[in-house]
Amino acid sequence: MSKKGSKIQYICTNCQHTSTQWQGKCQQCNEWNTLVESTTASGLTTTAKTNVQLRASEQATLADTLKNLDEGPIARHQFHSEQLNDFFSGGLAPDSITLLAGEPGLGKSTLSLQLLKSLIINTNTSSLYITAEESLSEVARRAHRLKVPETLTILQTQQFEIIEKELVSKKPSVVILDSIQTVYSRSMDSAPGSVAQVTNIVTQLMAICKTLGIALIIIGHVTKEGAIAGPRTLEHLVDTVLMLERTQHDLLTLSFSKNRFGTTEHILFLKMQEGGLVIITDPSLLLLENLEDGVGITYSIVRIKNQNIVVEVQALTSKNFSGTGFQRQGIGITSAKLNSLIAILKKYLGLELDSFDIYVTLQGLPKGSWDESLDLAILLSIISSYKNAPIEDVLKITKTKGRPVFSGRITLSGTIRTATAEITRKKTASTLKLQYNPAIQAGQLSLLQIY
Ligand code: TYD
Ligand code: MG
Repeated sequence: MSKKGSKIQYICTNCQHTSTQWQGKCQQCNEWNTLVESTTASGLTTTAKTNVQLRASEQATLADTLKNLDEGPIARHQFHSEQLNDFFSGGLAPDSITLLAGEPGLGKSTLSLQLLKSLIINTNTSSLYITAEESLSEVARRAHRLKVPETLTILQTQQFEIIEKELVSKKPSVVILDSIQTVYSRSMDSAPGSVAQVTNIVTQLMAICKTLGIALIIIGHVTKEGAIAGPRTLEHLVDTVLMLERTQHDLLTLSFSKNRFGTTEHILFLKMQEGGLVIITDPSLLLLENLEDGVGITYSIVRIKNQNIVVEVQALTSKNFSGTGFQRQGIGITSAKLNSLIAILKKYLGLELDSFDIYVTLQGLPKGSWDESLDLAILLSIISSYKNAPIEDVLKITKTKGRPVFSGRITLSGTIRTATAEITRKKTASTLKLQYNPAIQAGQLSLLQIY
């Protein structure tokens, strides 16, 4: 079904390749069943009219433009919480378009209501929460439980045209749209959540919000495979992409995969509790509650964006008497990394690992993150298991000075290099009463004293 004058085309949700015919397999990226129906630009023009006077074209010399900028930056919306202001590099930019993405059920709706709460408490910012997923009363009940000030306006609709009218007439300062996958425009035939609908609606919302100076946060669901449902172009369109992800110890991380108004180096650790999400200022402490002594276990101070956390490394080396099918398995570590560390142990420390099955598990590392400075702790865990002794005994470390933590990179030429941002790691270790890299010298790995 297509509107008169519009042409059907098919767009690959994986790589954006377009085709005039439907095919089971995308010809560009070779993925199966990724082509979905879309309308061409001529189809989109039927919906491109909005009720708002869009920004006129502008031209000025660089000097004039800079002079205007000197008159001061446009103030950001300030949160009631310093941690949130820091996270957003000074607050929410006034006409920023943010995509908040995460798996269903993680807490996106809760988080966005809490963001509005923080803004309203601070400056009574005029805010609108648009729900296309839940009923008005469901959202109101949740907002009440989260103690959101009652000045918040909630709009329940799935229809883009109603949203557009509301934005243009009320011009709220901050708007949440929950969620992009459930909104549709009447002027398009395709289903809510389809590539055409999502792209078209976001494009129009951006034009409206940029013109009226509205900060918009669009909630988007992520599929189990980790892709933001809808086209990847959505990520390119918006100014900022915020990812909400689950990590171990029942924690969530909030971080930027793109940020046009600030750094992507900030991360927040959050925990869902009775009264909503709370910011965990020191995620290391959670793991410290159950640190273990043991063969094959070491700890590392790991730097994830601007935060240091403690990660536990467990290794098991076990003699394989069958002589075939040696196992090399890792959880939280790639097999390429595991194999390279095993090769380093064999070559530079002479460990006879060939007839051993080797398993490595990392605990406490946020999903998808990695820190090259984990190398040292992983290497030492394998040595500890191979020697069948706790790492304190293997390296003759005085236990009274606190539990050891190890951070360092290992090169393929067999040298230990200091970890990045070592000063902050040392500071975290000392705050937590841990010994940072005892018995470890940067330099040749072969000089490491193993007992
Ligand atoms: P929700 O914000 O609805 O997730 P999303 O919008 O990403 O789908 O909430 C996620 C879960 O959090 C939900 O199962 C209920 C729970 N929850 C709490 O435990 N405490 C609370 O205060 C709130 C508001 C929700
Ligand atoms: Mg939700």
